[in-house]
Amino acid sequence: MTTLAGSAGVLADDAAYAAAVETAVAAAGAYYATGESALDDDAYDRLVRAVAAYEAAHPDRVLPDSPSGKVAGGAAVGDVPHTVAMLSLDNVFSPEEFITWTASVERRTGRPVAGWSVEPKLDGLAMAARYRDGRLVQLVTRGDGSAGEDVSHAIGAIRGLPESLAEPVTLEVRGEVLMTTEQFEQANAVRVAHGGAPFVNPRNGAAGSLRAKDRAYTVEMTFFCYGALPLPATSQELAAQLRESTHTEILARAAALGVHTAADTAVPPRTAATAQEALERVAEIAGLRAELPFGIDGVVIKADSAADQRDAGSGSRAPRWAIAFKLPAVEKVTTLLAVEWNVGRTGIIAPRAVLEPVRIDGSTVTYATLHNPADITRRDLRVGDRVMVYKAGDIIPRVEAPVAHLRTGAEQPIAFPDVCPQCGSEIDTSEQRWRCVRGRACHVVASISYAVGRDQLDIEGLGATRVVQLVDAGLAADVADLFTLTREHLLSLERMGETSTDNLLAAIGAAKDRPLSRVLAALGVRGTGRSISRRLARHFATMAELCSADAEAIQRVDGIGAEKARVIVDELAELGPLIAKLTAAGVNMTEPGATPPAIDGAQAEPAGDGGPLTGRTVVVTGAMTGSLEKLSRNQMNELIERAGGKASSGVSKRTTLVVAGEGAGSKRAKAEDLGVPLMTPEEFAGLVAEYVDGE
Ligand code: IVH
Repeated sequence: MTTLAGSAGVLADDAAYAAAVETAVAAAGAYYATGESALDDDAYDRLVRAVAAYEAAHPDRVLPDSPSGKVAGGAAVGDVPHTVAMLSLDNVFSPEEFITWTASVERRTGRPVAGWSVEPKLDGLAMAARYRDGRLVQLVTRGDGSAGEDVSHAIGAIRGLPESLAEPVTLEVRGEVLMTTEQFEQANAVRVAHGGAPFVNPRNGAAGSLRAKDRAYTVEMTFFCYGALPLPATSQELAAQLRESTHTEILARAAALGVHTAADTAVPPRTAATAQEALERVAEIAGLRAELPFGIDGVVIKADSAADQRDAGSGSRAPRWAIAFKLPAVEKVTTLLAVEWNVGRTGIIAPRAVLEPVRIDGSTVTYATLHNPADITRRDLRVGDRVMVYKAGDIIPRVEAPVAHLRTGAEQPIAFPDVCPQCGSEIDTSEQRWRCVRGRACHVVASISYAVGRDQLDIEGLGATRVVQLVDAGLAADVADLFTLTREHLLSLERMGETSTDNLLAAIGAAKDRPLSRVLAALGVRGTGRSISRRLARHFATMAELCSADAEAIQRVDGIGAEKARVIVDELAELGPLIAKLTAAGVNMTEPGATPPAIDGAQAEPAGDGGPLTGRTVVVTGAMTGSLEKLSRNQMNELIERAGGKASSGVSKRTTLVVAGEGAGSKRAKAEDLGVPLMTPEEFAGLVAEYVDGE
């Protein structure tokens, strides 16, 4: 698909350019191979002219397989011939198309396919890596498929392609070179620091970096192997092995030699016995996409056995035994209209991108996170920029980078605030995240509203409007003031009747008895959330114990590192007066069932020991039903911990139980994948029945 903007043949952006290059390369390849091209001569010429014009304007974005300046569009002659053509893949977009395709494969082979390998379609560039006697000697791009460009200068910059293998074998491994999200961020930081324009997305980053030879800096990329084949100098034995092995065996062999495959990712290649099973795996991989630290644009399904592959055969462009199930695009280009600076409850001043609304992955995106001022500088963003925005699943949309070559000159630098946008005080810029010097006193309404929320002190009837009233009337300057409010105070507020007053006073009274974990959460200690608050409360048992702990003691709590421990100590010191005020107002400062650590710092008795979940790490996902229906996620996690378990939000090898409710998606899939036991909410409720109302 080519996205030429109008008949002028102007390519709008890198994506259009990449699509044009791909179309041109395929057209040229087909023309020179068989004399048949999908494009007529005129259309082909216009396409190549548009590509060339784009490259003249953006010489640093030229893709390695661009047809420009190459004899026959690079189709007939390349620098380095491939011993076996590097083919592309045909696409399907729906389960129906996929099933039709599998039937066509089986028609060709004349028998059911012995098994399907299902793996991520990595969003990068195809690469052939040649090893001689175990040493990496040459890197070749796909080029036109029959010959590619030598990019051996990139040896050493690509993780996953070791310079020497575990055995002194001669073979070619093939796979995809890409930038992980982290490598992309790193690459852009380095580029901008060297005065260059940031790459728009990881794929372009990899393409541009592979081509670059004489840069003052290097950026790292990652290789994912998806195939291996013999070279002319390969031993007969290994050649025969590679020809007869299943795809799964080949990947395992490559991994054993030290080459990186997707096996160690959250979406490892898996085999499926039937087409239906393959589709289930496609859905699982699609569900995990948003959490992956690298980009995928589809799922590749391959006939696993060598015999099936041979009998299905290959066309000139793509094999007939493999297909790409394409996933919807998760990246779009839109305009950065403005940057807002919002002050949070702890006084953190966070920038947020206001975007021209754009549909991505099924929803309309209007805002995206910009993290902190340094992040804006690192990305070299300007108001009015066309920006690449990424959003997948439930993740918060993020701005990847400006599309710098689309700049008109009218873009404006992003203005950083000089004073706190909430209260006008000075800003503490000593950390990456800027903060109002008044800290939590700056945005009292936000911090009180947060403190009384359902997962903190849970004071019903105290919505944001009431909090504003209380603050404006001078009745509350912090959360502790709520506990000394009188009937008269409340009745003096507008729209506050007798009944509401009594109800609110009762709710405030009840909040005095919340466990320490809730009080800690309500304080909004920076560096902690609900889960860390619970762990701190269980570990230290009382506020006094916690407040007298030093960073070293705090680090003994699971999941708290040195940096976080330091922040917590500082925060607790800052919060000292507020804690004292809460204590004086009669707010509970202990965690029921927990015992303080012994003098030597070791936990005396693990809290909750003896409960049915002792020693288990539990993840809850999907909607709860039955007796658990009304519990928030935080309350579920509290329940798990009361029953002796450890609550966690992500499924990993360490997870020992997943409670999967209605609508559970990727976490359930991952649990199944890892063989983690699953329970329905009802089964789980049975297991922990005696703890359900145990607050
Ligand atoms: S197999 C003969 N497997 O997608 C089989 N390709 O759109 C050829 N790609 O050119 C490729 N992930 O660069 C295969 N797991 C995967 C892949 C993959 C990404 C790329 C590859 C190919 C392109 C086709």
